[in-house]
Amino acid sequence: MLPSSTSVIVSQLPLGPIVLFVLVFILVTRLLWSSRDRTNKLRLPPGSMGWPYIGETLKLFTENPNSFFSNREKRYGKIFKTHILGCPCVMVSSPKLAKTVLVNQSHLFKPTYPPSKEKMIGPEAIFFHQGQYHAHLKKLIQSSFLPSALKGSVSQIEDVVLGFLQTWEHDNTINTLHEMKKYAFEVAILSIFGNKLEAEIEGIKGLYQCLEKGYNSMPLDLPGTPFNKAMKARRGLNEKLRQIIQKRKQIGENGEGLLGAILSNNEEEGKMKLSESQIADNIIGVIFAAHDTTASVLTWLLKYLHDNPHLLEAVKREQEEIRRKRLKANRRIAWDDTRQMPFTTRVIQETLRAASILSFTYREAVEDVEMEGYLIPKGWKVLPLFRSIHYSSEFFPQPHKFDPSRFEVAPRPNTYMPFGNGAHSCPGSELAKLEMLILLHHLTTTLRWEVIGGDGIQYGPFPIPQDGLPIKVYPV
Ligand code: HEM
Repeated sequence: MLPSSTSVIVSQLPLGPIVLFVLVFILVTRLLWSSRDRTNKLRLPPGSMGWPYIGETLKLFTENPNSFFSNREKRYGKIFKTHILGCPCVMVSSPKLAKTVLVNQSHLFKPTYPPSKEKMIGPEAIFFHQGQYHAHLKKLIQSSFLPSALKGSVSQIEDVVLGFLQTWEHDNTINTLHEMKKYAFEVAILSIFGNKLEAEIEGIKGLYQCLEKGYNSMPLDLPGTPFNKAMKARRGLNEKLRQIIQKRKQIGENGEGLLGAILSNNEEEGKMKLSESQIADNIIGVIFAAHDTTASVLTWLLKYLHDNPHLLEAVKREQEEIRRKRLKANRRIAWDDTRQMPFTTRVIQETLRAASILSFTYREAVEDVEMEGYLIPKGWKVLPLFRSIHYSSEFFPQPHKFDPSRFEVAPRPNTYMPFGNGAHSCPGSELAKLEMLILLHHLTTTLRWEVIGGDGIQYGPFPIPQDGLPIKVYPV
């Protein structure tokens, strides 16, 4: 009753609006103070900040990530602090906390990347933004990678696969990661520029390679350093993309793929238009996002199948059945075939879990945030640990066993996040899975492979099998 009776008295006074203002002011200030008071009293999460400046960076990047995370989780719980790459961080390793950061309270945690990476990819790329601009880009990118859009690319992706398999059979010994990188790159280019490739695309390939070499180098912008060369290549890429856009405008055809969708959007009345530099940053950004990720998972896929011959046999049986049907009908692989590969699909799902190539992602607290009774100070990085959740025996029993049958039942909500969660989750997940299915169809029915080399894991930057998994390939 109190709030309404107070408002009646106030409304009868001539000074009503002033009194009302003062009351609201006092209320808001008290609320602000009490929340500040509360966060001031909160403790930081438990954990170790390691050595001055380097913190625990070396440990994170040299130890097995499973043990780095699980040792700390055992000691401190599902939320702990650490210090990585010069930044104080809080790591969270429960589905509920990861969802809080990425979905429920995502407005309190903005995406964050090292400035050198932002500069290299382009500051206007989707990853670095929130709000209206991000939502517009997400819609545009997603529309080019939805199943309805991908259906038309199956034959083109198949052509790329068949081209690669021919060279593998011929060369006999290949480095899986190198080949998968080439494959993922070709498919990314196809889905961005469409099937009618302009002459400038060759230039884009060369410049992109140079950019990639400098991406993980020291951000030292001095003549001759890999970083400096990469930045030059990045400027060259802008110019090539500008030429392609001009060409498409001149002939009056926006073309296919993501670039075509962006150019068509720019012509639509009332839609947010993208400048040439915004287009370039997002095209380069999508190539980056699509390339190493897909290639690393594909490499793990071959490793896990090789190490589990009974699973490889089951995949082969499923694929041979489809091959028999399509040869009988004298046709190529179709989208519908890829929807009838339940066993192979589970192998891919389990590969994404077991490899967890993105062990975590980064966000930054935009203000002091209270979480589980602890304080996350403004400016601290917050890292949801996908890998820890994927390796939790509570959600994935016997997590170290490669067992696709666990996906006969859908995982519990927010426990399976190979493609992230929330507004920034991956728009390319369907394309990545399609690439894997088409490759496995032809690979398992025409070739067999033997791994030559050790069993170790390397990080560069994603976890990959040792030396990129060199293999020997034979016709079946
Ligand atoms: C197996 C391969 C892939 C994996 C494991 C993967 C994983 C992820 C993850 C975990 C995120 C979320 C990052 C975060 O929340 O900070 C993400 C974002 C993204 N991915 Fe993928 N990705 C893959 C392939 C692709 C492909 C093929 C594309 C091509 C379209 C792509 C485009 C993107 C883009 C543009 C984003 C940023 C989305 C945003 O910020 O809203 N990814 N990816």
